[in-house]
Amino acid sequence: MSSHVRTNHLAALMERAACIKEMLQQGVKKPYKDVIDVSWGDPHRAGMKPLTFVRQVLAACLYPQLLDGDNFPVDVKRRAQKLLRWCDGGSVGSYTNAAGIPEIVESVAEFISQRDGVPADPENIWIQPGSQTSLGSILTLLVSSEASPKRGVLVPVPGHSTTSLSVTALGGALVPYFLDEEHGWELRADELRRALASARGACRPVALYVINPGNPTGHIQSRKSMEEVIRFVAENKLFLLADEVYQGSVYDSNSEFVSYKKVLHELGPPLAHTLELASFHSASKGFLGECGLRGGYVELLNMDPDIMPYVQQLFNLVTCTPVTGQIALELMAKPPQPGDPSYPLYKQETEHMKCTLLDNVKRVQQVLKRLPAVSCQPVQGGAFAFPRLHLPLKAIHKAKEAGMQPDMFYRARLLEEAGVFVSPGCEYGQKEGTYHIRFCIMTTADTMEELLRRLSAFHLQFMKDFS
Ligand SMILES: Cc1ncc(COP(=O)(O)O)c(C=O)c1O
Repeated sequence: MSSHVRTNHLAALMERAACIKEMLQQGVKKPYKDVIDVSWGDPHRAGMKPLTFVRQVLAACLYPQLLDGDNFPVDVKRRAQKLLRWCDGGSVGSYTNAAGIPEIVESVAEFISQRDGVPADPENIWIQPGSQTSLGSILTLLVSSEASPKRGVLVPVPGHSTTSLSVTALGGALVPYFLDEEHGWELRADELRRALASARGACRPVALYVINPGNPTGHIQSRKSMEEVIRFVAENKLFLLADEVYQGSVYDSNSEFVSYKKVLHELGPPLAHTLELASFHSASKGFLGECGLRGGYVELLNMDPDIMPYVQQLFNLVTCTPVTGQIALELMAKPPQPGDPSYPLYKQETEHMKCTLLDNVKRVQQVLKRLPAVSCQPVQGGAFAFPRLHLPLKAIHKAKEAGMQPDMFYRARLLEEAGVFVSPGCEYGQKEGTYHIRFCIMTTADTMEELLRRLSAFHLQFMKDFS
């Protein structure tokens, strides 16, 4: 099925979900009272609450009159006053440097240095309106539509579809490498070699894109796997694009997030001083979940000095990142500390979120394990569960008759019959003959229970109808 037809189905289902929501609001009777929308990696859309500290500082920055009374704790006021001093004219309504407010870029550099134990140079960091914008900018550099042969980017399958769309929109070629579902969606070096060989004659591969922790897979790469990736990238003179936006979301006690920058540093020279790396992070994910504020950054390492002027030019195309997004990044980089008046509430809210997410992951695994014809690899991190559906032939035929991918068909019925809105695996790429759905696990415990209840009941009925 062409990607065009698939995109039409996706758009039609988004419209249908909006239409059902509207009908429910108008009192139309359905077997459910609301639509649970877990189709995006958007924690607030899925029901998570914003952090009080973040919203108080933002509120005070946007409306400084709030600083006059006793509305907020003193550390909130001090932080807002400091942020306003960094803004030209003392207002978040002013333009900022294209790379971001210099003091916030410094905070991001400190955050990276503390995370990795490796110094970060603010000169190598650019704040952008979300990490997706930074990814797009770097891809623009790497993939020129006029290049012949076409420039190729190795992308994971399944993987974040927006990046793949950017590559093709820029005139580049996708070189898919498959993640190993049977081994928890591991990234295997032999598969990278196969993918690279398959591109020979079709395009000139210039970059490898990795997502760690994975979207949609929930896999967290081991250090060994990351070292293999780095060596592969170096041997083949590629550029490494490390999408690390889910670094704050780790659920498996045996896994840890380690940045590509840290692993590269620890491999030492010559690799540490030569491998070109762009690492992306964002205020959209993790505890903040502030997707709509649009604050992300990229850190570049070992860039060819001849290329840097072009990088500057490209980043300067974005006049500046929304100041509220930059503030969100500052607060992610420098949250309240023990002893600060806001710390107890911040701690309570983040601990509650952590416990909720751990419980959600546990419940998802428990419930899916009990469902027939469903298997799900461990959700070690990230924002999603990505179960595989072993659909009956009758359902597959029915889907084909309707001109849909089988998992799109399943998803459409799940929406109509149970009011649960998930994404189909075909949106992210999957091995031929396998079908998946993806749903966001960053939601409240009550919503997760209701989602699992509806999904289970729907699935059992679906299997009965099509067996
Ligand atoms: C893997 C991955 N990278 C990047 C992004 C984009 O994030 P941002 O909001 O920072 O643009 C997303 C969003 O869902 C994502 O899943």
